Amino acid sequence: MISSKLPKVFYGGDYNPEQWSKDIHTEDLRLFKLAGIDMATINVFAWAKNQPDESTYHFEWLDELIESLYANGVYVCLATSTAAHPAWMAKRYPDVLRVDADGRKRKFGGRHNSCPNSPTYRKYAERMAERLAERYQNHPAVLVWHVSNEYGGECYCEHCEAAFRVWLKKRYGTVENLNRAWNTSFWGHTFYDWDEIVLPSNLSEHWGNNKSNFQGISLDYSRFNSDSLLECYLLEYHAIKRRIPDSIITTNLMGFYKELDYFKWAQHLDIVSWDSYPALDTPFSFTAMAHDLMRGLKDGQPFMLMEQTPSQQNWMPYNSLKRPGVMRLWSYQSIAHGADTVLFFQLRRSIGACEKYHGAVIEHVGHEHTRVFREVTQLGAELKALGDTLLDASVPSRAAIIFDWDNWWAIEKSSGPTVALKYLEQIHKYYKAFFDQHVQVDIISPSTEFTKYDIVVAPVLYMVKEGVAGRLEHFVEQGGTFLTTFFSGIVDEHDLVTLGGYPGKLRKLLGIWVEEIDALLPTQKNRIVMKEKTGVLEGAYPCGLLCDLLHTEGADTIAVYGEDFYQGMPALTRNRWGNGAAWYMATDPDQEFLNGLLTHICTELGIGAPITAPDSVEISVRSKEGTDYIFVMNHDREPQQYYIQEGTALELISKHEYSGEVTIAGHDVHILRPSQH
Ligand code: GLA
Ligand code: ZN
Repeated sequence: MISSKLPKVFYGGDYNPEQWSKDIHTEDLRLFKLAGIDMATINVFAWAKNQPDESTYHFEWLDELIESLYANGVYVCLATSTAAHPAWMAKRYPDVLRVDADGRKRKFGGRHNSCPNSPTYRKYAERMAERLAERYQNHPAVLVWHVSNEYGGECYCEHCEAAFRVWLKKRYGTVENLNRAWNTSFWGHTFYDWDEIVLPSNLSEHWGNNKSNFQGISLDYSRFNSDSLLECYLLEYHAIKRRIPDSIITTNLMGFYKELDYFKWAQHLDIVSWDSYPALDTPFSFTAMAHDLMRGLKDGQPFMLMEQTPSQQNWMPYNSLKRPGVMRLWSYQSIAHGADTVLFFQLRRSIGACEKYHGAVIEHVGHEHTRVFREVTQLGAELKALGDTLLDASVPSRAAIIFDWDNWWAIEKSSGPTVALKYLEQIHKYYKAFFDQHVQVDIISPSTEFTKYDIVVAPVLYMVKEGVAGRLEHFVEQGGTFLTTFFSGIVDEHDLVTLGGYPGKLRKLLGIWVEEIDALLPTQKNRIVMKEKTGVLEGAYPCGLLCDLLHTEGADTIAVYGEDFYQGMPALTRNRWGNGAAWYMATDPDQEFLNGLLTHICTELGIGAPITAPDSVEISVRSKEGTDYIFVMNHDREPQQYYIQEGTALELISKHEYSGEVTIAGHDVHILRPSQH
C-alpha cells in the first residue's frame, strides 16, 4: 500500500531537470519546499540520455538527481524512460517504428511511438527497466515505479501481423473455430491457413470512421493490440519485480481511453494511476465518473492522480486557464473519489517544443510570485495538515454502472443501426442521473460481484458475455434492482447475434421480446408517455436515437410510445423477478426523464444523499475505520447553500463546526466529519 511509504497525500509531479542547468535545479528545490512538494516523477522521457548507443548506459545524472531530491525531502516516482525510443535506435533498427492504419511506415519522431511487437523495442525496454531496478533497488527515495508513459495507439506492421496470428491461434486453436467466430462464410472470407489472415486496417476491412466489414476481426484486433502493449508493460514490470519484489509499480492510464482494456491491465498494476485533463467545459460529473472508473479498475482500491495541469493544457484547441480555486477544487474532487496522491504535469515549464505553453507549477517567469504558484502552495499546506486522515479510505457505493471495453468497441464498430450511438454518452447520462441526486456510484466490469450492490445499471449492454446473464438473474433474484436499455443483449463476445429474439440472454430476466429496432433521424423525436405514475414522472417526455419495438412477456408496462406506428407499445418496462426487479428502458430519453426515473428507483430502495445540496454542489463520501468524510464541492463560481440534515460536523480544512444550513464559497471545498452523537 502506498500509504505505508509516506503518511500523507503525495504532492508534486513530472519533473524534467534534464532540460535545465544545475543552478535552475537548485532554485527548483527551494521552490518545491515553499510549495510543500514531496514527490517528483522523473526520467519519463530520458531514454536517449540514459542510453546514447546500443551498449552504453549513463545513469550518473539520475544518481545525482535522486540524491539531491531526497536530500531536500522530495521522494521519487521513478519512470523507466521507455515511452519514446532514441533516434539511434530507429535508425539502426527500423522495426521499432510503427506502421499506421493506412500502411505507412513512420519515421523517427513523436513519442509513444514504438511498435509493441518490435523485438528490438521489447529487448531494450526490458533491459532498461532491469538496469534501473538494479541500480536503484535499495534507494529509499524511490517510492513508486512508473513504467513507460500513457501506453496507447496502434500498429499495423508485419511484426504485429505475425503476432496477431499467434494470438489468434492461442484463442481459437483451429482455423475452423476462428471461421465460425468471425462468421467468415459472409462475403466468402473463409480462411484455410493462419497465414492468410491479415490485420484489419484501412487496406483490408476498415472504412470510414473506424467502421469495419467484419466486426469480429476488428474486435479481436483491438483485444490483441491492447494485449500487445500490456505485454510490453509486463516485460518491464517483471524486470523490476525480479529485483525488487516489494516495489509498487504502475503506469499512468488515461481514464476512458478507448484503445486499451484497462480492466485487464489493472490486474497487473500494483496501484492504478491516471492523468486527468478536463477542459473548461467538461462536465464535472464526467470527471467524477472517470475517477470512479479508475477506482473501479481494482475493485474500489484508492488510486494515484499521476498528472493534472496546475493551470492549462497545450494540446486542446482552446487551452483555458483553470479559474482561481479550480485546481484546488478538482484536486479535492479526485481525492473525494479515491485518489491518494495529487501530482501535476509539470513542475517546471519547458522553454521549447510543444509543451512550452503547458501549465506548470513554476512558470517561465521562474519565481514564486504567480497566482498558480500561490494556489499550489496553499493546497500543499492543506494536504500536509490533512496528513494520513484520508489515506486508504474507501468510497462506499450502493449503486453501480457496468462498463466494458469489449462492449464499447463492438457497439462503435457496428454497422447500423445508427452512427449516433455513443457508448460513453450513454454511460454518462445514467451516471449523471445518480450524480445529480448526490448518490455515489461504482463503475464496474461485467465480471464484478453484483450482489454487493442494491442497484446495477448497464446502459447499452449490447454484448453479453458468458455467465453474465445468469449472474444478473441471481442478483435480481436476491433482491437486486437491474436496469438496462435499448440495444442490449444482442450479441455474444464474438459479436455474433444471439438467436431466438432480442434481448437474447436477458430476455427472460427482463420479461420482454424486442421485435424491431427503429433508428431515428437526428431531427426526429418520439415521446414517452407515462402509464403508471412513477415518483416525479408524469405525462410525456421526448426520446430519440433508437426506439425498440417490444412486447411484454411478464413485465409491467410503465410507459408507452406516444407517436408513430408503434404508438402505445411499451417504452419502459419493469419485471418482478425473485425479490428484485429488472427494468428496461427501450429508448433514449432526455436527462430530465432519467433523473426522475433513477430518483424514483433510488427512493424506493432507500438510497439517498448524505447532504441536501443544489446540482452545482457535488457530494462524495470516503469512509475509513467507521468514520465518514463527506466532501462538499462547489463547482459554481458563486456561493451556494447546502444543508446538514442531522447533528453537527467538523470541517477538516478550516476546523469550523457546521450544522443546519451552510454557505460554501464559490469553487470552495468542505470536508465534513460528522460529530458522533
Ligand atoms: C500527458 C503526458 C505528459 C504530458 C501531458 C500534457 O498526460 O503523460 O507527458 O504530455 O500529457 O498534458
Ligand atoms: Zn507493429
